[in-house]
Amino acid sequence: MNPILVALDVPAAGQALALADALRGAVGGYKIGSQLFTAEGPSIVRALSDRGDRVFLDLKFHDIPNTVAGGVESACRLGAWMINVHASGGAAMMSAAVEAADRAAQPGAPRPLVIAVTVLTSMNAEALAAVGVGRSPLDQVVHLALMAQGAGMDGVVASPLETAAIREACGPAFRIVTPGIRGGAAEQTGGRRDQARTMTPADAIRAGASYLVVGRPITGAVDPRLAAGAILEEVQGTGLG
Ligand code: C5P
Repeated sequence: MNPILVALDVPAAGQALALADALRGAVGGYKIGSQLFTAEGPSIVRALSDRGDRVFLDLKFHDIPNTVAGGVESACRLGAWMINVHASGGAAMMSAAVEAADRAAQPGAPRPLVIAVTVLTSMNAEALAAVGVGRSPLDQVVHLALMAQGAGMDGVVASPLETAAIREACGPAFRIVTPGIRGGAAEQTGGRRDQARTMTPADAIRAGASYLVVGRPITGAVDPRLAAGAILEEVQGTGLG
C-alpha cells in the first residue's frame, strides 16, 4: 500500500475533512492525534473510516492494562485501522491491548494494527536519565521494540534514526511507523522547523520504515496533493515502497 500517513494536526473537523478529501487516493491513510480528537471526538474517526479511509488513531494510551484494553476496544469500534499505546506501560499492558483488539475485531475483518510508542523523540539521554532510564535512547528504543514484539504488538513508532536498528532487531514483518520526514520531496514548507531528527522519505524507507507519518510538508504545502505525489514518487524510486 501507499506508505504515506498524513498527520491531520488541525483544530477542527472541517479542515481535516477538506484535507482528507483533497488527498484521497494520493496517500495511504490519515493520522488523528490528540488535538483533533480532543476537539471533535469520535465522530471525526467515524467520518473518515466510513469514507473507507485508513485511520491511525494516535492517542498513545498509557494506563493500567484493564483501562488500556477498554480504550483499545472503543478505538476498534470506531473503525480505526491502527492504534497505539506507550511501550513503557509494560508487557502486561501491551498484551492486554492486543487481546482487546482481537476481541473487538469485526468477524471476517482484520483487527486494527496495535503499535507501541517507544521513546518520544523529544527525549534525549539527559531527559531519559532524569526519569531513571540509564540506557542510551537508541538502546532503550530497541529494548522497548523487542518487548513490544514479545507482547504481540504489530510494530512501533520510531524516529527515522532508530529505524534501521529496530528493523535489524525485530525482523522484516514488524511494522515501523516513522515520523520526522523532511528534506527530499518533503521539503515543501521551509525546512525542518521543530523536527530535529529527520530523514528524507527515500532514506527512511531504505532504513526500513513501513509507513511514513508526514504532516506539514504535505498539509502546509500550497498544493497538498502535489506534495504527496512528489513524496510517493521519491519513495517508489527506491524500489522498496
Ligand atoms: O508536521 P510533521 O511532519 O512534523 O508531523 C509529524 C507528526 O508525527 C505529528 O503529528 C507529530 O506529533 C507526530 N510524531 C512525531 N514524532 C514522534 C511521534 C509522533 O513527530 N516521535
